[in-house]
Amino acid sequence: MDASLSTIILAAGRGSRMKSDLPKVLHQILGVPMIELVIEKVRQAGSDDLTLVLGHGADQVQRALGETSIRSAMIRSAIQQPQRGTADAVLAALVQQPPSHPDVLVVNGDLPDLDPELLTRFVADHRSGGSAFSVASARVADPQGMGRIVRNDRGDFVAIVEQQDADETVRCIDEVNLGLYMLHVETLLPLLEEMVSEDLSAADPAAESYLTRVVEVLVQKSLSVAAIPVAADRQFLQVNDRRGLARVSRVFQDRLQIQWLDAGVTIVDPLTTWIELGVEIGSDTVIHPQTVIRRGVQVGRHCEIGPFAHLRGGTVIEDDVKVGDFVEINRSHLECGVRAKHLAYLGDTRVGSGANIGAGAVIANYDGTHKSPTVIGERAFIGSGSVIVAPGDIGADAVVGAGAVVPSGKTVEPGSVVIGVPARKLNPDNARS
Ligand code: UD1
Ligand code: MG
Repeated sequence: MDASLSTIILAAGRGSRMKSDLPKVLHQILGVPMIELVIEKVRQAGSDDLTLVLGHGADQVQRALGETSIRSAMIRSAIQQPQRGTADAVLAALVQQPPSHPDVLVVNGDLPDLDPELLTRFVADHRSGGSAFSVASARVADPQGMGRIVRNDRGDFVAIVEQQDADETVRCIDEVNLGLYMLHVETLLPLLEEMVSEDLSAADPAAESYLTRVVEVLVQKSLSVAAIPVAADRQFLQVNDRRGLARVSRVFQDRLQIQWLDAGVTIVDPLTTWIELGVEIGSDTVIHPQTVIRRGVQVGRHCEIGPFAHLRGGTVIEDDVKVGDFVEINRSHLECGVRAKHLAYLGDTRVGSGANIGAGAVIANYDGTHKSPTVIGERAFIGSGSVIVAPGDIGADAVVGAGAVVPSGKTVEPGSVVIGVPARKLNPDNARS
């Protein structure tokens, strides 16, 4: 893999078609913000110099990226304020963060399904072709909304025409601009400066300067441009609106489930199961319908999860655990053989091996201000309808009676039995009488 590639990811746009307060690139696909997926793919393609163009919601995007490991991966950012089109965005990056290499890959930030191999081949083809500017093109099933690749009678690439500027004939073209470009910085920088200032010189504050227009500019100057056909899927995935987001999420979900099925996990009903990215599941685990497994959850081998279970981030489930219907588990660790089969909530809880969480038991981990942890010892039995108010400490082999409320901070000694509201230790003599 060639690790000498400068890349600019365009992520400053308003994303107005999303109709959202959240910047488009922060919308999540299977629990992962779109921008993270794009960054990952670009890195896999060998990019060692990455600049993000941020604008709309730049603070939010920077904060979100700062929370993940990619912060350490040396990503530069350029600010485009206001957002006046994709050419203006590229120019902002070139001026504010001069790339380390003579040519640059430009990637739209709303393409979460990029294939690193496709990118690598596109870069290689551009370099061997020697054009000043290359566009990755493909024939797609639905070109609606995409820039069309226009060729002259000789088949030479002469322009990209955006949907809104396309006449009937151009709209029938199914070869489109995928939103991936390679450009030679020294040639393009002065041309972009000129083109952008020309496009934005009008009094109209809504005017935008499109990167795609640079093709005509280059052709006029007899500089070489290329539309390089790449092996993209005919259903090329991009996210311009919520429909796109839902479609991409579904495609990712189907692919991910195939991976789990092939790894020996039973998914009883793939259509009603939702597993996010960054999850681990051991073989011979059975996932019943209507189950949701969020990013970062680890599930061991030989477990049974669901129906209607919700496993949330930070949860670790060891081998041979059963989590049944309407059970929500959040940031908790269930050791081997734990049973939580009906209607329970476990938050910030460590449950020792072999413990049983009864129907309707709740670990109340949030007091309205703070979240606190609870530990439940091995083989403990937490009765139906009981509430343990965190922080909780239930010893090994202890029993919390049905309907008991164990107050915050109370320790239930190993092997003891507590009942009632608030829970008190059951005197063995009374218990017999
Ligand atoms: C763009 C292309 C279109 C192509 C399609 C492929 C243009 C003008 N059109 O259309 O030819 O077929 O992508 O997906 O480029 N952005 C900025 N600053 C801005 C405007 C946009 O950074 O001022 C960013 C957006 O955040 C987004 C990317 O550029 O990540 C593309 O913008 P978008 O509005 O999605 O363009 P499309 O309509 O998809
Ligand atoms: Mg787009």
